[in-house]
Amino acid sequence: MRAAVKAARSNLRQRADYTHKYNLRTGRHGWLRLTPAYSVKIVEELIAAAEGRERVFDPFCGTATTGLSAAYHGHTAATTEINRFLVWLGQAKTAHYSRSNIADTRDACEVALSLVKREKISPVAEPPIHNINRWWPSRSLAFLRLLKGAIDEVTKGGSAERTLLQVAFCRTLIDLSNAAFNHQSMSFKGETKQLSLDIGLDAAVLFRQDVDFVLNGAEENPSGSCAVIEGDARDLPKILKGGFDLVITSPPYANRMSYIRELRPYMYWLGFLENGRDAGELDWASIGGTWGVATSRLTEWKPNGDKYRCNALRDILEGIAHKDNANGALLANYVAKYFEDIWEHLKGLRNILAEDASVHYIVGNSTFYGVVLPVHEFYADMLRRLGFVDIGVRPLRKRNSKKELVEFDVSAVWKRI
Ligand SMILES: C[S@@+](CC[C@H](N)C(=O)[O-])C[C@H]1O[C@@H](n2cnc3c(N)ncnc32)[C@H](O)[C@@H]1O
Repeated sequence: MRAAVKAARSNLRQRADYTHKYNLRTGRHGWLRLTPAYSVKIVEELIAAAEGRERVFDPFCGTATTGLSAAYHGHTAATTEINRFLVWLGQAKTAHYSRSNIADTRDACEVALSLVKREKISPVAEPPIHNINRWWPSRSLAFLRLLKGAIDEVTKGGSAERTLLQVAFCRTLIDLSNAAFNHQSMSFKGETKQLSLDIGLDAAVLFRQDVDFVLNGAEENPSGSCAVIEGDARDLPKILKGGFDLVITSPPYANRMSYIRELRPYMYWLGFLENGRDAGELDWASIGGTWGVATSRLTEWKPNGDKYRCNALRDILEGIAHKDNANGALLANYVAKYFEDIWEHLKGLRNILAEDASVHYIVGNSTFYGVVLPVHEFYADMLRRLGFVDIGVRPLRKRNSKKELVEFDVSAVWKRI
């Protein structure tokens, strides 16, 4: 199998249609961005190829790409996610909206903007984001605080109208910010964005456009459904009843990407985070997190011999931990813990699968101090050891210009012995 994978890899190219960039144009899938979101196109292809399998599950929901696609195909899907903000977003994206929900949201948008224009509303408190003026120039910040106050004033908590306006608000706050999303993770643009005209007028136009975009997506209700459940993918049998026959997911990659870091502007504004300590705790609870407190915890973390171990991984861990690598010991712990967590997840997953269920893990490999970590091979090995059959590894695309960084579809079939 390795030679075939190698040959397929050499013909690979970078494919924008296999990344989140493709999602930006596609209705509800484009509502909010998460850099590591995978492409709707991959999911659509896998769903189409798995005809007859209709109970779809994604243990790592993210922005609910799998759940929403499955629901649009008329399937009954479920997805789990550890981050409450993403659970909220996934529920918003997969919900059914009536015509009156949409008309009421449009009306609520106009009332909110008129309150902002006349300053007939108290602004919400500034969200406790570190160094907030790096994110938004003061006039944009003032506008966002008024707008958030107005949305809270004109809609009921938990209503469809509030949810839809909050999604649009999230789009606007990124449009108005200095954040740049042209790298793997979010960074800041060189210059502060200054709006050319009256901030109130320009930003109102922007918000109205964002509301229109969100409502266009909301009008397209899926014919199927998706349950978006808050929970830890290492505990699946405790959270869900079984019977799934198709799993399509992209788990966190072993590349030190922090989803909390990416999502913090939305999370602080919508009240899902209140301080940096909670952000670090959530990152530690998530698989693959190394932000804030997670870094110091990893230094003290000890491997558990009962979990996944194999010689190839041990050699790689030794290479990463080499004394010449400044943070080698920490990063070796990071990688070892990552595979222990994924092992725990896969073990539990077996209990909620139907016989002959097909699973697809879209994973990327990574490098640490020049040591290549063939994540796809370890997924294939773990699935085999856990009793899955028909293991396949298919390269999908190059992740960037570095030739060794590739995304794969690791697939398998579950058979109870
Ligand atoms: C690569 S992202 C998924 C992206 C998703 N496919 C999409 O298209 O948006 C991985 C997700 O797994 C979540 N996650 C991390 N650890 C988790 C855990 N223990 N249980 C459930 N979800 C977890 C992260 O919060 C993140 O949203």
